[in-house]
Amino acid sequence: LDEVMKILSDDEAMALAIREAKKGAGFVSPNPAVGCVILDKQARLLSVGHHQRYGEAHAEINALGNLRRDQLEGARLFVTLEPCAHQGKTPSCAKKLASLPLKEVIYGLVDPNPLVSGQGAALIEKAGIKATLFDKLQTDLQESCEHFLINMREKSPFVSVKVASSLDGMLAHISGESKWITGEKARSFAHYLRAVHDATLVGKNTVLKDDPQLNVRHPRFPAKKNKVVVLDSKGEILGHRNLKIFSTHKKEDLFLITHKKGLTSDLCTPIYLPPFKDNAAFLKALLTKLGGLGISSVLVEGGAETISSFINNKKAHRLYLFQAPILIGSRTGKSWSEQVTIASMNQRIHLLNAKVRKIGSDLLISGRL
Ligand SMILES: NC(=O)c1ccc[n+]([C@@H]2O[C@H](COP(=O)([O-])OP(=O)(O)OC[C@H]3O[C@@H](n4cnc5c(N)ncnc54)[C@H](OP(=O)(O)O)[C@@H]3O)[C@@H](O)[C@H]2O)c1
Repeated sequence: LDEVMKILSDDEAMALAIREAKKGAGFVSPNPAVGCVILDKQARLLSVGHHQRYGEAHAEINALGNLRRDQLEGARLFVTLEPCAHQGKTPSCAKKLASLPLKEVIYGLVDPNPLVSGQGAALIEKAGIKATLFDKLQTDLQESCEHFLINMREKSPFVSVKVASSLDGMLAHISGESKWITGEKARSFAHYLRAVHDATLVGKNTVLKDDPQLNVRHPRFPAKKNKVVVLDSKGEILGHRNLKIFSTHKKEDLFLITHKKGLTSDLCTPIYLPPFKDNAAFLKALLTKLGGLGISSVLVEGGAETISSFINNKKAHRLYLFQAPILIGSRTGKSWSEQVTIASMNQRIHLLNAKVRKIGSDLLISGRL
């Protein structure tokens, strides 16, 4: 908290609250990641806080911390999401805020739950405290809790696709080798991505060819146990008991999606889905099933067939594309988008709000689909 006592503009305060929110990613699901900043009556930074762990105190309560009532006299509180009006696992934040001598509560997004949206703000207003919806930084605000917003809007898990590709778009050599395309730093970031999604999903060829562990190996998440989903209609991976995913994950965290009714296994949890007439219907049923298992976000890691299927059927919300400064050649490589089909230039897919950053010697391009 080096910045304490610094004077902040409203934009700076909300941007700081967004940065705070992001610290909760990977720990709060299925709750939203939320951040909060409190400025005193002279706009000096009093404190920051975020929702740290599912079931525990919300961002506002953490930011209030040990602040005394007199410090809050005329203070303004910035929070990325409308304070909750209802008693859930913790008491209502809006009620708590309404009991304080604050001047104003500025919230970034309206609670997306139509049953309670606006009610947090109303409770605060009723206590004579101004409640203002912040009208700037909307893209950043929405991104800070995009998993939650999609869960609410679509009643389905948020789906990200992650690809590690060469400069010429290849995710493997035709020999099947794909280790390693990106450098160590990018691979570490990929583990961060696994940690901030509830489940990692792959097609069966990736498991058979690469024998990956698909677990989270990242210093910020030492105890994180991600769930793993393998699309394998005939249950082929079960014939290979030595695969690393079986020794890495507990049976109840490893799901095999199969068309074989009544399939049982001591290695994983088979989930039966009937064959559908098209892939869109299959993916819809799959996501509904995963949502029912308590999975609210999925990182699709490959391979090409699996990725294409999510993109072609508009079932992916975000793309994370790592590009390594290497060439594999289109005749000698396997393109990650080999099965993505676009009918005409007009229908090309744009990444929305795309961001490019350098990670080690690789590039990470990410954006909403
Ligand atoms: N660089 C990277 O980021 C990266 C990441 C992962 C993999 N890879 C590489 O990618 C290659 C494997 O890719 P791939 O395209 O051959 O295979 P894949 O996507 O790993 O697996 C494809 C199989 O999964 C099942 N499946 C996937 N999507 C499905 C859907 N929507 N509906 C029904 N079934 C579905 C199908 O098997 P059934 O019909 O039997 O069910 C399908 O044949 C490997 O060489 C691997 O090294 C690279």
